[in-house]
Amino acid sequence: MERKQFLRSIGAGAAFALTFPCLNGCSSDGEDLETFPEPTGVDFTIDLSSPEAAPLATNGGYIAVKSDPQLTYLDIVVARNLEGELVAASKICSHQQTEEVRFIIEDGGIFNCTTHGSRFAQDGTPLNSITNNPLKVFNTQRNGDILRIFE
Ligand code: FES
Repeated sequence: MERKQFLRSIGAGAAFALTFPCLNGCSSDGEDLETFPEPTGVDFTIDLSSPEAAPLATNGGYIAVKSDPQLTYLDIVVARNLEGELVAASKICSHQQTEEVRFIIEDGGIFNCTTHGSRFAQDGTPLNSITNNPLKVFNTQRNGDILRIFE
C-alpha cells in the first residue's frame, strides 16, 4: 500500500472502530471498556505534506494513525510538542488498554488518556496515580517530508 493510500485509510479505520464496539475485547471490570493490544514491532512512515498530517505543522498539534494498515483501529499518536519536536506514543493506554490516549498542551505538553485520566510525560513516565505502567513511546526520524516512527 502506498503512503497516500495508507493515510487515506486512517479515517475509515476510525469509523470502523466506532461501528463495532468491543471487537477487540472488552475489559472485565464492569466498565465495558473496549480494549486493544499495545502496538509492537512499530516501524512505518507518514508523509508530513499530506492533508492528514496538517495538524503536525503547529506546535501542540497531533494526529492518530495506524502503525499497520491492516489494523481496524488507530494505535499511535504523533504530536509536535511545544518545542516543535515530533514525538510519538501508543494510543493504547498502559492502564486498561483503551485507545483514548492523545496529546494535550497542559504541563508543557503531555500524553493523556481520557478514559480514567492517566497522564504521561513525553518519555512515557506516568504523572499521576492512575497507573504505574509507563506509556509506550517510539523513536521518530525525519527525512524531508517523511517521518519514520519506529521502536
Ligand atoms: S484506560 Fe487510560 S486511564 Fe484508564
